[in-house]
Amino acid sequence: MKMWSGRFRRPLNPEFEQWQRSFPFDKRLLPQEVAASSAHARALARAGVLSASELKSLLAALEHVKHAFEADPQFLEDREAEDVHHFLERRLVELAGDAGLKLHTARSRNEQIATDLRLFVRDTIDAIEGALFALIEAIAEKAKSAGTAAMPAHTHLQAAEPVLVAHWLLTYAEMLMRDHARLQDCRARLNYCPLGSGAIAGATLSLDREGMARELGFTAPTANSMDATSDRDFAIEFVQCVSILGIHLSRWAEEVILFAAREFGCVRLPETYSTGSSALPQKMNPDALELIRGKAGRLAGSALTLLMASKGLPLAYNKDLQETQEPVFDAADTSLHCVRTAAGVMRDCEFDFARMAASAECGFMNAMAAATYLASKGVPFRSAHEAIGKAVSFCLERGCELADLGLEELKQFSPAFDQDFYSAVTLDAVLGCHDVPGGTNPARVRAALFELEQRVHALQEALHAHA
Ligand code: ARG
Repeated sequence: MKMWSGRFRRPLNPEFEQWQRSFPFDKRLLPQEVAASSAHARALARAGVLSASELKSLLAALEHVKHAFEADPQFLEDREAEDVHHFLERRLVELAGDAGLKLHTARSRNEQIATDLRLFVRDTIDAIEGALFALIEAIAEKAKSAGTAAMPAHTHLQAAEPVLVAHWLLTYAEMLMRDHARLQDCRARLNYCPLGSGAIAGATLSLDREGMARELGFTAPTANSMDATSDRDFAIEFVQCVSILGIHLSRWAEEVILFAAREFGCVRLPETYSTGSSALPQKMNPDALELIRGKAGRLAGSALTLLMASKGLPLAYNKDLQETQEPVFDAADTSLHCVRTAAGVMRDCEFDFARMAASAECGFMNAMAAATYLASKGVPFRSAHEAIGKAVSFCLERGCELADLGLEELKQFSPAFDQDFYSAVTLDAVLGCHDVPGGTNPARVRAALFELEQRVHALQEALHAHA
């Protein structure tokens, strides 16, 4: 039986009947639907609608459904179910008879889906949090093992200045820490319980909303029943957060792909995350990284779908809101896979430190340090810049580096050059001179790594204290 057939005299158009169902995708909300229904059942009992024995048999039935689902996904086969709410009601009626039919007293699917989806997003944020920590730890491990190894850093994809490999890696850790913080903000904002909001105007019985919220781990009940049943901000926000995360991972993936290209030759791809070519026998392709890069577009697409589905909707619940589920599910699965895969690639890939150092030592990446050297001798920086620029041009014609020029040759560009110039432009000196917080000086990078580990540790401690 449908949940709403009483008023109808004609059956639905069969194609429309199938098309409007959400069960094919919202069945994955069954654990959340069971949890929310338990809370509602307890509130009904407290309100005197269910007797103690009815509550007992309902809770036993809900428990049974939970286990049956965990034991066998086939349990979800039901051609009649319109959505997950209908599916659960059908099972509860089978298992608990009239008590099952009473459960829908003073509630609406509008508040149920708003609650289930919040719980789903909350669970997903918690899962992503664990995966993010694993990825950040993999990055920190790699940064540690890179020690003081150097590499060229680019602006405009042109060699700019040398940096520590660890410094480069920690850039991504910073992005991911921001992603973590954004997701936690989203989690805190969504953690209010719509149960008791009814269809739009609030439950038709005085239900213990505080109790239901507490039971489900929410901070408090939502403040306004119309808002609670129509709000999908949390879904939009969550998918926006993982879109930014996806963008970060795509940038990382692109760089690793580039560095693994023979022309850079700085990264050895892991066989565990690469594939071969059916045509070109010599090839190993960075498929995992390419997929991560590609999925960023998919995540951003889901974010846009959610915005469009919500645009201009009148209050409160509208069936359009059913369209907000699939982008959330897809973004949840996609982002989790991306983060886990990125962690695996990070752990298994290898750097060619010798090659990185060699390319950090050529291509005039000490030019800025050279200009700063002249400035330290009293030459105004703008003139120093000009002098080094001319020296670079001179070297380009000769096919050599600045430090290959003799002192007399250098002096034609500025009389301020002295013998100590050569020690000021070695790779170590160039790295060392960036001695500011956040700079690539090895001691600064070591401190940054230590600080990152402290931050992650503090977050994990807070998490365990909460659990
Ligand atoms: N399957 C529906 C959804 O996901 C549940 C809410 C249905 N509410 C209604 N009034 N038809 O949006």
